[in-house]
This record gives sequence, C-alpha cells and structure tokens, in this order.
Amino acid sequence: MSKLEKLLAANKIWAAQMKETDAPFFERLSELQAPKFLWIGCSDSRVMPNAGAGLLPGELFVHRNIANLVVHTDMNCLSVMQFAVEVLQVEHIIVCGHYGCGGVQAALENTRLGLIDNWLRHIQDVGRDYRLILEAADSREARLDKLCEINVIEQVMNAGQTTVVQDAWRRGQTISIHGWIYHITDGIFRDLQVTLDSLEDLNDLGLKMIDKQKGE
Ligand code: CO
Repeated sequence: MSKLEKLLAANKIWAAQMKETDAPFFERLSELQAPKFLWIGCSDSRVMPNAGAGLLPGELFVHRNIANLVVHTDMNCLSVMQFAVEVLQVEHIIVCGHYGCGGVQAALENTRLGLIDNWLRHIQDVGRDYRLILEAADSREARLDKLCEINVIEQVMNAGQTTVVQDAWRRGQTISIHGWIYHITDGIFRDLQVTLDSLEDLNDLGLKMIDKQKGE
C-alpha cells in the first residue's frame, strides 16, 4: 500500500468510527457550521489545533501560515477573519504560536531560504522593535523563545487593528482575541494573558508593549 493509499484507508476507518459514536454527525455538519473559534496558527505540522484542543470538525475555523502572522494587507488572512467574524460570528480569535518555530528562528538568524524571507521580514521588524529584550536574553534558545512569544503578542495586536475586528467592536459585537503559545515538547497550549476584548484593551496593550520595547 502506498503512503497515500494508507491515508485514504485510515480516513475510511476514522469516518466509520465517527458515525459509530454519532450516526448523523456528518449529515448535521453538511447543513451547518457554527464554530465559536477562529484559529490563526503556524503551518508547522507538529501543532494540531483541533485535536490538541479537543475540538471536533465544525468547531474551529482555521487559518494557518508560516509563523502565524496577521499581516495588515494579507487578503487571505483578512478574508478568513471577515468571514469568521461577520458571517460565522465567532466569539474568539486565538492567535497561537509555538516555541521552536522555524520561521521565527530563520528571521532571528537571518537565514536565507528564498521567497519566504520576504514574509519573515515581518518578524525581523518585530525583532528590531524589541531588540533590547532580545539582547538581554541569556542564550540562543531563550532569545528564540522570547521572540516566539513577542511575535504572538504583536499578531494579536495586528488582529485587533484590522477593520474587521475594529468594526465588530464598534457595533458592539462580542469578540475576544487571545494570544497562545504551544510547547511542542509537552503538547500544552499556554495563554500569554494578552486577551483583547475592546479598543481600550488594544490601546492598553499597545502602551504596555511600547514600555517593553524600551526595556522597561
Ligand atoms: Co512555526
């Protein structure tokens, strides 16, 4: 059996098991998706948002890219966010990074990988803003961990700056943006405690992060 045949065979077993526990499961899903969460995460194969958070198909709307970036002009990410917030009415956006992120590492070490260097340039901009914190880290690993965390926080703020989220807050829609980080070595998601529920929260976090940039 080829590798792909194995995938298709495993899929048949999975679908049968799902039907066994909940017979009308797929029928119900085909009529409606009503996820409460939008996940913006890294493409890294070791991070499994649905399974890792105990969520079934239909419960998590997902956007993934290299190093979980929310770039102001990325129509792909913005379109996912708009559909999630305005049509699906998700209540939570989770920006989830992970320690040991290859994208963040390449940005930190200025590794030349090709086209992707232009995408990772966004993280290098973040690194430049927080260079005092990064320089204070006492090892290469600690510096990478720090940039992985700061990158999540910056993307949480970027998500909060989108017209999609700003308009939702202005019209009184309940939408929270959370920053999480995943540890590949223990399988645990950690909340970085930077949740934004409003424009005020966004402004407060922005000021706090400016202090951090000054090393305070
Ligand atoms: Co990554």
